[in-house]
Amino acid sequence: MIVIGGSSSAGLAGEIARELGCGFMKAETSRFPDGECYTKLEGDAIDDDVAIVQNTYPDSGLVEMLLLRDAAVGMGAKRVAMVIPYFGYARQDRLFKPGEPTSAKVMCSVLDRFCDKVVTVDIHKEATLQNFSHPHKDVKAAACIAGYFRGKGIDLVLSPDIGAKDRAKDVGERLGVPYDHLQKTRLSGTEVRIAPAEMDCKGKRILIVDDMISTGGTIIAAASALKEAGAAEVSVACTHGVFVNDAFNRLSSSALKEVLSCNTLEGPASKISVASVIAEELRRGFRCR
Ligand code: R5P
Repeated sequence: MIVIGGSSSAGLAGEIARELGCGFMKAETSRFPDGECYTKLEGDAIDDDVAIVQNTYPDSGLVEMLLLRDAAVGMGAKRVAMVIPYFGYARQDRLFKPGEPTSAKVMCSVLDRFCDKVVTVDIHKEATLQNFSHPHKDVKAAACIAGYFRGKGIDLVLSPDIGAKDRAKDVGERLGVPYDHLQKTRLSGTEVRIAPAEMDCKGKRILIVDDMISTGGTIIAAASALKEAGAAEVSVACTHGVFVNDAFNRLSSSALKEVLSCNTLEGPASKISVASVIAEELRRGFRCR
């Protein structure tokens, strides 16, 4: 297998190739003056399966993924696995109001035409992947998050809402510490209310885990509820650090001890690598050498 790194995920792709002990091919991607995507694979012919690692977010990422796939096939690639660490439009997975599209399904049907396997990481809803006719797998970042925090003295793992309670359980069990979830009510796109914590937080070093941080509203409200309840330290680790506008700076200058994300979106917070869990999945069914 050859691992190809698109512009959103060159670092992660290199790590996956090292984990697999296989070749890595870099793509040189730039923009034409009118903004259209130009990409070129740096290398000779490909006589192997490929895994293309590229987010489909923002919108331009989807086009880049399709162009990379075409370039790889043009160079002789056999089977193509698309590794989409952060799958754009995953949250629009159903009709919320009449007249809207089912955006996640649209993304799947476009990508499905051009790949032999799809690997995502902590996609918003796993059911979205059922729109693919090819083999698909959503790998979990919990082992990587727990690995990063092992030995760092975490006393309690919490999710900010019931929807993420399994993630808190997974990380908590791996760390061998208690876990629970908070009660969140969304007030608007940027504001949430977190009910006072029911469990005893006094003097505890707490890790909040979530699938994504977007505006940061959820985590700011959760951290302040936990501090009010007497927590000694509050850190946060999410899978996807979207950090819209100044969210990362606001979180970094808040009472939080650490603000971390996985490298599904590469940036200043992305210190937790998901390369090992992606590599493990690619080993299944694809020839890796
Ligand atoms: C919600 O269901 C998700 O798990 C996240 O909690 C949410 O998307 C975070 O958004 P924000 O950072 O804008 O509060």
